[in-house]
Amino acid sequence: MNPDQNSNTGNVFGMIGLGTMGRSLLLNIADSGFAVAGYDKDTLKVDALKQEGAPYQVEGFASLPDFVNSLKKPRAIMMLVPAGPIVDSVVEEVLPLLDQGDILIDGGNSHFTDTTRRDTALEAKGFHFFGMGISGGEEGARRGPSMMPGGDIEAYEIVRPILEAVAARVNNEPCVTYIGPGAAGHFVKMVHNGIEYGLMQLIAETYEILRKGLQMDNASIHRLFAQWNEGRLQSYLLEITRDIFAFKEPGTESFLIDDIYDVARSKGTGKWTSQVAMDLELPVPTIDVAVAMRDLSKYKELRVKADALYTVEQPNRFATERRDKTLQYLEQAFYFSMITTYAQGMHLLAKASAAYGYQLQLDQIAKIWRGGCIIRAAFLEDIYTAYQQNKELPHLLLDPYIKGLVQETAPGMREVVAAAALSGVATPAFAATLSYFDNFRNGSMPSNLIQAQRDFFGAHTYEVIGREGIFVHSAWLPDALD
Ligand code: 6PG
Repeated sequence: MNPDQNSNTGNVFGMIGLGTMGRSLLLNIADSGFAVAGYDKDTLKVDALKQEGAPYQVEGFASLPDFVNSLKKPRAIMMLVPAGPIVDSVVEEVLPLLDQGDILIDGGNSHFTDTTRRDTALEAKGFHFFGMGISGGEEGARRGPSMMPGGDIEAYEIVRPILEAVAARVNNEPCVTYIGPGAAGHFVKMVHNGIEYGLMQLIAETYEILRKGLQMDNASIHRLFAQWNEGRLQSYLLEITRDIFAFKEPGTESFLIDDIYDVARSKGTGKWTSQVAMDLELPVPTIDVAVAMRDLSKYKELRVKADALYTVEQPNRFATERRDKTLQYLEQAFYFSMITTYAQGMHLLAKASAAYGYQLQLDQIAKIWRGGCIIRAAFLEDIYTAYQQNKELPHLLLDPYIKGLVQETAPGMREVVAAAALSGVATPAFAATLSYFDNFRNGSMPSNLIQAQRDFFGAHTYEVIGREGIFVHSAWLPDALD
């Protein structure tokens, strides 16, 4: 339905939604030498794009038809708008303006089930659609994000040169790769965010130990994180945390961190990860705790009341131990927990791949997470190597090299969790991570008792050792007790 005048000329990439992420990514693409167009209903955002895009081949539009007509066919259009119904309304609005064969990319944090639905509906109408997770925040979008495209591979191949040109690079390789069919890209991005929640919670608990257990001030915390970030804990999240502990608003003397209200918010991707993990019966307790603690933080009034009501019965263990030894334990505890959090996330990816037919290659996912994204870390190199050496590795903690790291850091982890428990310093993610590990390496869990109880009160049956697969029931009461 569109004039053909632009079929061979025009902008090679279009962006719908010129918020921070959309504008930054579009400018990044323009920076790589591509002619691009951006659309937003908000003329202020269009003007901002035109202004910043002045040195490049960038056009800005507040009219959707004009935007669509400015694009070369087959058109490649990315939507970067808030996840949920807005994506559907944008699709509805733009679809009548497109031609069959045009490509629509959802670059937001859409729920993977929405992506599956859109993928099926748009394919049936003859359009190419793919969902792509993008990580790295504003800076990543502008300078090089990590991107997780999934779905229509034909469409991906068309835009691949553009995506590879703008992605972050590690060892000169782009942090983007085709993830898998259907909603695989958005699924992997969701799990990325689940891991992000887990790591952020672990860092927050480390801060809690440092300030309340070891009574360290912000400047010392800054120095410690700076030192850690030079070693094996090196990661983007630790790097920004280091900087947070040095930051004072211009013209003020106080650290900004001390003025921030202790209620954490979220857009939902962490919760989705936990929900899906429960549906798949695949435990990710570090992520679950991270979601739960953001929720608990919202009950500020109750927390303040309870704070006034209770006291810790014992002296602070951290104060009586040697500080440098404690910090050494803490470094080990953090590394142990970081490894285990990634391990939970990778395990979930493996399970989802089998359940949903995503054909995920875990080595490739680790590879593109090494740069550009929020969970980038030196440790991803080890994850990449582990899955490269054994593509069928059933769990990261079973890799021989990773095993060595875990074994070496476990003593510090135990010291920290024990001291925190005795001192009344809340470390739910550390504790959950350690318990996950201790049961993961437990060849005889007490689950036999759960089965006995279930059979006792509900005749739910149980299996007997050596006769697995055969379910039997016992008459537990009353005669059995005599
Ligand atoms: C990223 C981030 C990004 C966003 C989070 C924030 O990878 O670039 O994960 O997607 O900042 O979704 O999530 P919450 O608002 O839920 O903390």
